[in-house]
Amino acid sequence: MLEKMSDFFKARLDGYDEHMLTEIEGAAEFYGFTASKLPAGNECSILDLGCGTGLELEQYIAAHPDARITGIDLSAEMLGRFKEKFPDNNLNLICGSYFDVPFGERRFDAAVSVESLHHFTAEEKLPLYTKLRKAIKRGGYFILTDYFAESEEAERMYFENLRVLKKEQGTDDCEFYHYDTPLTVEHEITVLGGAGFSNIEILYKWGATYCVKAAV
Ligand SMILES: C[S@@+](CC[C@H](N)C(=O)[O-])C[C@H]1O[C@@H](n2cnc3c(N)ncnc32)[C@H](O)[C@@H]1O
Repeated sequence: MLEKMSDFFKARLDGYDEHMLTEIEGAAEFYGFTASKLPAGNECSILDLGCGTGLELEQYIAAHPDARITGIDLSAEMLGRFKEKFPDNNLNLICGSYFDVPFGERRFDAAVSVESLHHFTAEEKLPLYTKLRKAIKRGGYFILTDYFAESEEAERMYFENLRVLKKEQGTDDCEFYHYDTPLTVEHEITVLGGAGFSNIEILYKWGATYCVKAAV
């Protein structure tokens, strides 16, 4: 049964961090690796798409307590857990969809997203990534750590499975459902390039999870 995205994460809040860190291949390393790729200045402005409980920012905030963090997430409960971890830091947490929330222009030194964007099509991501590129200052960049389909055939299969499930269950197309539909990393890079990012490079890979850097 498909679950609405925010209901899915609300129901799994307790034990979420432990699950991610112990059950997801590479997670014991990729959160710290991702944090280490964010800019080193102490008052940098960072945008996180789908920040959840803030796992990817824990080490960064500990090292840069004056960083200005904007985190967007559909789940108020996940954001609440993030705030509990850092009650005294400069967190601007927005409960909403990153497709809808305005990011502004040239506001952020860098953006990051971990394990959130593998639910969307290339057509949905192109305007999102274009909006994101415009929100990052010149010289800044986007760090995307996410898992990707192993082949184009697998990518097609994920989307076809979702289409069939939605049809069977008569779901509302305006809602976000939790069902993984990763693109291949090659397709993801094509979308990032189409949105105007440059110097797109794979920094590292753990199983199916890649860390990609895209510059503005
Ligand atoms: C697997 S969790 C990852 C959370 C965190 N980045 C991490 O790695 O632990 C995916 C997160 O993306 C959020 N999410 C999914 N689609 C979203 C959207 N359209 N806008 C904002 N948040 C979204 C979910 O609510 C969830 O908290």
